[in-house]
Amino acid sequence: MLSIFEVSIKRLQDDPVCLLCRSMNLRHNPFIRPMSETDLDAVLIIEQASFPAPWRREHFGHEIAAPHSFPFVAEYNGIVAGYVCLMSLYEAAQILDIAVAPEQRGRGIARSLMDHAVSVAREKDAELLALEVRALNISAITLYERCGFVRTGIRSKYYEGVDDAVLMEMRL
Ligand SMILES: CC(C)(COP(=O)(O)OP(=O)(O)OC[C@H]1O[C@@H](n2cnc3c(N)ncnc32)[C@H](O)[C@@H]1OP(=O)(O)O)[C@@H](O)C(=O)NCCC(=O)NCCS
Repeated sequence: MLSIFEVSIKRLQDDPVCLLCRSMNLRHNPFIRPMSETDLDAVLIIEQASFPAPWRREHFGHEIAAPHSFPFVAEYNGIVAGYVCLMSLYEAAQILDIAVAPEQRGRGIARSLMDHAVSVAREKDAELLALEVRALNISAITLYERCGFVRTGIRSKYYEGVDDAVLMEMRL
């Protein structure tokens, strides 16, 4: 049986206005939907272009299958332009991964993905949403601060034994 969320997604996919925008290649808000196995070729291209130590296909496969994981993709003009992986277990939720294709950045796609992840975490009754980010990643830190996250600590030399991680949280 489909959840209310899946029913809403299906309705949006069938929405004639949305289909018209896609066929005319018009710019509109990204369309956010659950990630599926068929998205993984596109997701992996974005992942590899975005991170020095990218996740492999099995990582995303695990997120798609795991009961407490909620990976979503953002389609922009009909193509997969970005994704976010949310994990939500009881009162704690975490952003595990987020990226937008380099040529699609600066269009509000990550903001839409984050807003969606926040609302799903709330739906799952999480009370705290946490993440960690490379201290040098100013664009991501600015994005998270804009979304309402605050810095809660530093994990020294967390990435490859070199770069610090900034820990951030948002109360839901
Ligand atoms: C970080 C990232 C996801 C942002 O994606 P995006 O779609 O370009 O972001 P948006 O267009 O939604 O921007 C939302 C906000 O983020 C901030 N931001 C985004 N890019 C920024 C940049 N280059 N410099 C400073 N702030 C930036 C801004 O506050 C922006 O809001 P504004 O335009 O109203 O000022 C993207 O740059 C990316 O994929 N980077 C590589 C992967 C990565 O680092 N992921 C985070 C891992 S922790």
